[in-house]
Amino acid sequence: MKTITINGYDNASDTLRDQRLAQSLYDEGAVIMADVLLVLHGADHRARRLLELRVFRRDFFRFYEHEVFPATLKQTIAPYEAAGRADLMELSYRLTMNLTADFAGVDRPRRDAEETERLRGQVMIFSEGATLVHSTRDKETVRAEVRAALAEFKTSFYQPSLERRQQLLADFAAGRITEDAVPRDVLTVLLQNEERVEMAPDLMMREIAFYLQAGSHSTANATAHAFHDVMSWCSSHPEDQRRIESDPLFLQRCVHESLRLHPASPVAWRRSTCPMALPNGSDADTNDRVVVDLATANRDPSIFGPDADIFNPHRSLRDGTPPWGLTFGVGVHTCLGRDLDGGLQPRADADPDTHQYGIVPLLVQELVRRKARPDPADKALAANHTERANWGYYPILLEPVH
Ligand code: HEM
Repeated sequence: MKTITINGYDNASDTLRDQRLAQSLYDEGAVIMADVLLVLHGADHRARRLLELRVFRRDFFRFYEHEVFPATLKQTIAPYEAAGRADLMELSYRLTMNLTADFAGVDRPRRDAEETERLRGQVMIFSEGATLVHSTRDKETVRAEVRAALAEFKTSFYQPSLERRQQLLADFAAGRITEDAVPRDVLTVLLQNEERVEMAPDLMMREIAFYLQAGSHSTANATAHAFHDVMSWCSSHPEDQRRIESDPLFLQRCVHESLRLHPASPVAWRRSTCPMALPNGSDADTNDRVVVDLATANRDPSIFGPDADIFNPHRSLRDGTPPWGLTFGVGVHTCLGRDLDGGLQPRADADPDTHQYGIVPLLVQELVRRKARPDPADKALAANHTERANWGYYPILLEPVH
């Protein structure tokens, strides 16, 4: 087996779209990732994705941004606002974990800090398990922690969420409740299973655990990166400070620029399922490893310009190139949470009052509204348990809004 690395934006994009290549980044993290949507291939992947796509519809994103997000934000941010300070990583994780739990179908009946903290602790462990290939810790130790966290998740959150949905679906089938009372989330569509997709009970639980970590981990990291990039930009470009405060479409553009610079995973890995010629001209045999370098593809100067390496929300983009580059992937595994998190790319006539901004831009907007700024007395630290370039601790000061 040889490893072939793909560089350059166009080659990376074409490689990700080639359906003869199967996912392989999560083989090390099988303890949580075996047979979840992200690692499936071919017809199995198509059937499961189609089923789960039912949750990811635009009308629901709109409802989510306008109804669910503001309420969850208010509740999550309240203790930090009262204290006047927060660790942005912790705050973003709590918030995005709650939001992703709504999507995945994991109930938190008490909605208090202790319950959120317990689920967050479990999800942090799932994340480390999923990205085991990049972990700097002993891999067997991490696997044992993931197994223990899954067992705890099952009794504390998953089983009660499952039973409540089973009961609601039975009530709906018997005509005791209307469809409005049936939750709209991944667990519910898996239980309804209108596409008749085979799924063992243990796999269904890991699918939900995968959603929790896929959604919350990447969203929390993206928020901290975006906040940091926006703050740094404002300090070197004070002329844009007011625009960032008053023009939400420009702020969304800033977040997209930050997403380009910090893809959740610096690489995508694929395995060739047959002998094939790759877009960069190399030949792959069956089972060769193809490493798509997303981080450098997203900084390809031939696509993003000579200053591709730096944050510049004013850069012009080639038609058809998404401002976030390959950060949400492309092809059959394109992120299902892309529009939820990044929002829609505004058209020239976009109405700022009705535009769908996405969770990360909205969160950064809320931080700006609360005059959040890095705490000058407490230094931000990089995450130390992973080779991925993420923030581990990001202290900020913030003010209440009136
Ligand atoms: C800034 C935030 C996010 C980033 C950067 C991100 C990035 C990605 C990337 C790069 C992939 C494709 C991986 C590959 O091709 O190997 C992916 C897949 C996926 N993402 Fe996201 N993601 C984010 C947020 C979310 C959220 C909020 C959710 C769910 C609520 C989500 C659900 C998924 C799912 C289900 C897949 C698998 C799709 C498939 O295999 O068909 N993601 N994500």
